[in-house]
Amino acid sequence: MSIETASLTKHYVETKAIDNVSVSIGDDVQVLALIGPSGGGKSTFLRLIGGLESPTFGEVTVNGITLPVDDSALREWRKKNGFLFQSFNLFPHLTAEENVILPLAEVHQSSQEDAKNRAQEVLSRFGLAKHLGKQPGQLSGGQQQRVALARAIAHKPQWLLLDEPTSALDPEMKAEVLDLIEELQKSGQKIILSTHEMGFARRASDHVIFLSDGQKLEEGNAEELFENPKTAEVKLFLEKVMKW
Ligand SMILES: Nc1ncnc2c1ncn2[C@@H]1O[C@H](COP(=O)(O)OP(=O)(O)OP(=O)(O)O)[C@@H](O)[C@H]1O
Ligand SMILES: [Mg+2]
Repeated sequence: MSIETASLTKHYVETKAIDNVSVSIGDDVQVLALIGPSGGGKSTFLRLIGGLESPTFGEVTVNGITLPVDDSALREWRKKNGFLFQSFNLFPHLTAEENVILPLAEVHQSSQEDAKNRAQEVLSRFGLAKHLGKQPGQLSGGQQQRVALARAIAHKPQWLLLDEPTSALDPEMKAEVLDLIEELQKSGQKIILSTHEMGFARRASDHVIFLSDGQKLEEGNAEELFENPKTAEVKLFLEKVMKW
């Protein structure tokens, strides 16, 4: 499945969050990493690709078909993807199991029984079998993020879109969530993620896009881009963030 963007642009009142970005993500790309400085446009780009927002100009094309601008039509594309954001976004009054069941039943029209079975399957896969009945407030940050990840993949999304999935976690929990993402990658899940974890981006992704001030400064094979950045800005950024 290929994704292309043509002159993709998103303006907010005074900010060009994404500024004329054209990329072609071929069928061969399984994991795409978006990297770059804070405010560079990574989250906005993810939201545009996932159909959570419409562009101001330009377009996103999936398998040769341009995404609609109209929000209700865009919803169909959105449903095909899975999303995970930096801060868990779980329903606080529902248990872990119910958090996974709800979108399956409400958005994806699974029967209650199928949804429950699937919820138990994905939560067990992520080591949460003992925590099905706990509410988010009774779970650690890492566990909450694993529930959110289970929810994001429960409907078998075409693309899993991860927006800094580990930045709210401390190191041990970070490692545990990154391990799961790597496992999903190995099982063949297609992933687009924004991340400040450069080591992980380098290891787990095959294609990288560097965004700064809404523009694409560099793009390429992960190994090449990390090894031989072409622009001074990317080189400086990598030197700074890889130092630690
Ligand atoms: N809803 C919004 N309204 C107004 N401006 C916005 C909105 N969302 C993003 N922006 C602006 O667009 C620019 C890009 O933001 P974005 O969140 O995409 O960056 P980012 O690369 O994800 O940054 P970070 O690494 O800090 O998450 C920023 O200048 C931001 O302030
Ligand atoms: Mg962001």
